[in-house]
Amino acid sequence: MFRRLPDRKECSISFTFNGVSTMARQGDSVAAALLAAGHGSTRRSPVSGAARGPYCMMGVCFECLVQIDGRPNRQGCMTTVAEGMRIETQDGAAMPGQEE
Ligand code: FES
Repeated sequence: MFRRLPDRKECSISFTFNGVSTMARQGDSVAAALLAAGHGSTRRSPVSGAARGPYCMMGVCFECLVQIDGRPNRQGCMTTVAEGMRIETQDGAAMPGQEE
């Protein structure tokens, strides 16, 4: 389980994860905000269906893929969370036509 270091910053950014309202701090990446909120799994493997979650937090491993505002294959660790963002678990590989 992850938890934030103590400081004075407030969670002021509101977004949803799988339809549930969640809060983040200004400047959080999507992956950091999800981990801080207790969501360790952000996608499911296209091969086995196993739950996967952020690992490297620097854009290398691609374990943090999520759907953001309906667009699949977004790297959560490389995307800054924004007010009103709609983030969903990515189940398996994105279907053709779902890409940008
Ligand atoms: S956590 Fe590794 S690429 Fe995002």
